[in-house]
Amino acid sequence: MRYSMKGNGPLIGDVYINGAKNAALGIIPAAIMSDDTVRIDNLPDVEDVRVLLEAVEGIGVSVNRIDRHSVTINGSGVHTIRVDNEHIKKIRAGYYLLGALLGKYHHAEVHYPGGCSIGERKIDQHLKGFRALGAKVIEDKDMVIVEAEELHGGHIYFDVVSVGATINIMLAAALAKGNTIIENAAKEPHIVDVANMLNKMGAAIRGAGTDVIKIKGVEKLKKVEYSVIPDQIETGTFMMAAAVTRGDIMIHGIIPQHMDAVSSKLIEMGCIVTEYDEAIRVVCRGPLRPCNVKTLPYPGFPTDMQPQICVALAQAGGQGTVTESIFEDRFKYVSELRKMGAKIKVEGGNVAHIEGVEKLKGADLAAPDLRAGAALVLAGLSAEGKTTVDGIEYIMRGYEDFDKKLRSIGAKIRIETDSK
Ligand code: EPZ
Repeated sequence: MRYSMKGNGPLIGDVYINGAKNAALGIIPAAIMSDDTVRIDNLPDVEDVRVLLEAVEGIGVSVNRIDRHSVTINGSGVHTIRVDNEHIKKIRAGYYLLGALLGKYHHAEVHYPGGCSIGERKIDQHLKGFRALGAKVIEDKDMVIVEAEELHGGHIYFDVVSVGATINIMLAAALAKGNTIIENAAKEPHIVDVANMLNKMGAAIRGAGTDVIKIKGVEKLKKVEYSVIPDQIETGTFMMAAAVTRGDIMIHGIIPQHMDAVSSKLIEMGCIVTEYDEAIRVVCRGPLRPCNVKTLPYPGFPTDMQPQICVALAQAGGQGTVTESIFEDRFKYVSELRKMGAKIKVEGGNVAHIEGVEKLKGADLAAPDLRAGAALVLAGLSAEGKTTVDGIEYIMRGYEDFDKKLRSIGAKIRIETDSK
């Protein structure tokens, strides 16, 4: 399947943001740690979430879909701690079932994580954390096995700031005996969201959102109703859509504070960004100015917005740079942008030097991963002529109704399923 689109001027109008994919992917495993029924609202209806729900159903969790964005989950029926169904192999976040099942049953066997190919994506910090909680770790071909006679608190210093490892250890430690301290923890909004959910379930987690998280293990987790925070990256992607099409987009249902790093770069590039309580408006009338961007853990500029800002810089008046400091291989899409006439040189694998051109030209492109796929769509919507973006399955992993939302603000974009 591919998107087919034509750049046709500014995108203007209102967009409503769904729940955060990467928060939801931590919250679903948290939910199965209770034997009570947990209700989750504001779940984004995206492929990664659907796949994780199917994966947990596969081990006996009962999942009741109330409507498109709400489910109830009951984890009392888990009949196996071995998760190697076909669903789990497709996604990265399956690794959270290691922490969740280890915490609850002191034993988990989960297929090695899949997900977007954007670098080596090791899980050594997750495993180091589980060991600190008293677990034995065995890596057996494609499976990761973690097992503990007694899961106890531990003191963990992460060598790299990792979103996944931070959430995974929070999950396991929530039900361990005694106190856990995580130092050099990641601070992303979805870490705070998973901690808030666990705390509402009866966990005792303090410091989420700072780089030291303290967890006092509790005996069990109870039922809760919880609503997932809005998606920071979906928001950022629409902010960038306003910038690249010289549009005016009001983005609703968001937390503006989560967007500070993106907002400040857009302001530097000449856009007007106005924050409201739960909305943000991005207006871009004149030419874009170049800037230098470096991806960093939160509150720095998110790596998941790196391809999108690169598309904006490819059309700015002058020379800009983008330095990727989180993943080793996140510039695969640059060769696609070059087909559109973009002038980008990647140096040392992690720095893109971008010489803005007046206008990108339509081309036939392929999405190499989720965020790069969304960025190529932004490029197509700001280019002259027709663009196709193949491999939209990647985009559907993380964006709900992406094309529909873009059409609602004036984009000429549709899905093509036939052969060319
Ligand atoms: C999460 O991936 C997100 N995925 C990614 O979102 C996001 O890009 C990333 O965090 C950074 O914000 C999910 O939440 C499911 P990390 P994760 O552990 O947890 C290294 C998207 O498009 N590292 O914070 O895999 C690692 O190699 C996706 O929505 C280790 O060395 O990221 C990387 O260089 C893509 N050892 C860096 O740390 C470890 O044990 C950060 O990775 C763990 C990580």
